[in-house]
Amino acid sequence: MLLPASSGALFLLLAGLGGLSLGEVGDFSPCLQSFYKGVPPIGVGSEGYQPICQRYRNQYHFASLYQRQRRVPLYSAYVFTNGDGKRPKSNWMYEPQLAFAGASPEMKRFPRKKPVDQNVVESQAVLQDYTNSSYTRGHLNPSQHHQNQEDRKATFTLTNVVPQRKGSNSGPWAQLETEMKARLGAYCLGPAYLITGAMPYVTERWMNQRVAVPEYMWSAYCCPVHNASLPASLASFFPTRAAVGRNDRQSGGEIVPVDPEAKGSSLGYDVRRMSLDALEDILWQRLAIPIHLFTNQCLGGRVSP
Ligand SMILES: *[C@@H]1O[C@H](CO)[C@@H](O)[C@H](O)[C@H]1NC(C)=O
Ligand SMILES: *[C@@H]1O[C@H](CO)[C@@H](O)[C@H](O)[C@H]1NC(C)=O
Repeated sequence: MLLPASSGALFLLLAGLGGLSLGEVGDFSPCLQSFYKGVPPIGVGSEGYQPICQRYRNQYHFASLYQRQRRVPLYSAYVFTNGDGKRPKSNWMYEPQLAFAGASPEMKRFPRKKPVDQNVVESQAVLQDYTNSSYTRGHLNPSQHHQNQEDRKATFTLTNVVPQRKGSNSGPWAQLETEMKARLGAYCLGPAYLITGAMPYVTERWMNQRVAVPEYMWSAYCCPVHNASLPASLASFFPTRAAVGRNDRQSGGEIVPVDPEAKGSSLGYDVRRMSLDALEDILWQRLAIPIHLFTNQCLGGRVSP
């Protein structure tokens, strides 16, 4: 696929990673269709970040920007497809090319009986990191945002996952995912582009002394073409909307305030809905770089009758 001529920052990002290399770990060019107008977020990604085109059963399904030093993705980007169905049986996978540059470009299932290769363990999170922890495997790209089974199964790779508190993962964050699915399914015509990520702590925290734990989860969508007969109450939800969710009950309330009335396991894991601009400001402050998740802020879209 050709790179858009206007994406100077994208070019710099790729150049910073050592130029265009072939292969699925290395650059986003085989999976630019996961991004609005084929342009990955501008501002994020330089040294220490590796683009992964998530390939499963001979197809690209989505894209992740992986941080080797933290052994977690910074974000996953994907195209939403509406559909119902069961969550697939989770056969968890890893990315062979993070361990061996010449390995298969396909994500691969963890071996069941054999120990995991030490090069794989060094290069990425493995199931054992989660087994003995107080964290769940939090999908950035969730399986329920896809219609077809292959797209769903492809989300079960640990390079799409961060350590997420159960209270968030099965509470307010799950509600956000369901709400986005319902809204996009009802009013977005044509593709919706999502980017969901993890925000590290200012002072890094680790799971199993190996895998960085995020303090917040964040997500944003770009729906370029929406139904014009939108209820007035939803006008501010198109073409873009974003959210940040707490992954730590103890965090301060500056970014996402806590609702003291929240019940039980949801308490302290609030999700704050916000505009795309507000999310980009927060990311800017945290990551110290100006960020644009969607080219031209997803404007220039149109509405359909
Ligand atoms: C989990 O922790 C227990 C107790 O500390 C230990 O015996 C066990 O081997 C650990 N399991 C894994 C998979 O690390
Ligand atoms: C737009 O929404 C209206 C009202 O909900 C619905 O009747 C119509 O079929 C929708 N249009 C499209 C193209 O989906």
